[in-house]
Amino acid sequence: MSILITGGTGFIGSHTVVELIEAGETPIIVDNLSNSKEIVLDRIKTITGICPKFYKVDLCDMTALDAVFAENPEIESVIHFAGLKAVGESVSLPLQYYYNNIVSTLNLCECMKKYGVKNLVFSSSATVYGTPAEIPIKETTLLGQTTNPYGETKKMIERILTDVYKPNPDWSISLLRYFNPIGAHKSGLMGEDPCGIPNNLLPYVSKVAEGQLPILHVHGNDYPTPDGTGVRDYIHVVDLAQAHLKALTRARKVTGVEIYNIGTGRGYSVLEVVKAYESATGRKVKYEIGPRRPGDVAECYADATKAYEVLGWKAQYDIADMCRDADRWQRQNPRGYES
Ligand code: NAD
Ligand code: UD1
Repeated sequence: MSILITGGTGFIGSHTVVELIEAGETPIIVDNLSNSKEIVLDRIKTITGICPKFYKVDLCDMTALDAVFAENPEIESVIHFAGLKAVGESVSLPLQYYYNNIVSTLNLCECMKKYGVKNLVFSSSATVYGTPAEIPIKETTLLGQTTNPYGETKKMIERILTDVYKPNPDWSISLLRYFNPIGAHKSGLMGEDPCGIPNNLLPYVSKVAEGQLPILHVHGNDYPTPDGTGVRDYIHVVDLAQAHLKALTRARKVTGVEIYNIGTGRGYSVLEVVKAYESATGRKVKYEIGPRRPGDVAECYADATKAYEVLGWKAQYDIADMCRDADRWQRQNPRGYES
């Protein structure tokens, strides 16, 4: 049996493919390479000894996607990572974001229905909580107002999948709400490869430590947090990948729509991350305090009890591991996969 991994050459998808192969599973990747590179497949092969089957296909192309299912009747589950994910870009390109993220999911569900595939794990995000109504955030915490089309697509897809389940009660759908994935594979062969200047904290910190960027701009130090800077729940990408394996194991046993927060349950401020990076790597991260970034929340961290109790999943890596692995990836690949 095989597992279809949409977006499998991307940051989280590629790490999940490695964990799946190492667990004896057979992933098949579909990706249009709009935000990833084919060389990732070589890295997966170097790490695992296996090069997974790969289709360069856009999920919005129904005919091409259908052909993947037709050619691989052994597909029994899907992990759906494919999507556009840059918050700022989604504000300037709303039609592209809604079209890509929604149509690809609708096409995927159509194919799953046609070919009798009933297990789906979907990449949702803590962004659906908006400004969190309570901290730590539980799966039952009321969803908040999203401030951008990217976040809205996650909410809409959660709703679509919940509705798809109703007339298909033999399906199993897991909605994994990721907190802040960072880190990289311990080999230094795979990691996050943002285009241009990174928006997210850790890739930016890595590039400052490496000397590629001059200074980190800390977005505000007047939040109601212990040191005034924003607090987030950073999670190692390999821990996150493992959560997908656990969700898949459960999906194979039970039907229903289940939501899980995937975080460590511990929040770190921007300045704590800077300190952790410096002590884990011995490298200096120069920073200056700047204004708040529009749309940011003060703090966001998970109550991940449900993932532990139901899936038996718990994060294994701490912030020092995350910083060390991100740094190794950055040093070994100063220009990402182009290096
Ligand atoms: P990524 O951009 O590295 O990976 C996404 C992959 O999907 C890319 O390889 C891209 O080429 C592919 N893709 C996009 N649209 C496609 C389409 N129409 N057809 C085929 N392939 C397509 O992103 P990531 O960080 O690995 O994130 C994976 C998923 O997790 C995304 O859905 C993202 O929204 C979600 N997520 C990510 C984060 C994060 O911080 N990285 C946080 C929460 C949720
Ligand atoms: C961002 C997205 C969110 C997405 C998440 C994971 C926004 C508004 N939100 O969340 O939708 O789900 O990424 O991909 O973009 N920071 C700095 N300086 C920087 C970069 C970040 O101080 O150069 C601070 C931020 O203000 C925040 C923290 O670091 O307090 C984390 O930021 P980031 O990595 O961008 O993640 P989120 O804002 O949590």
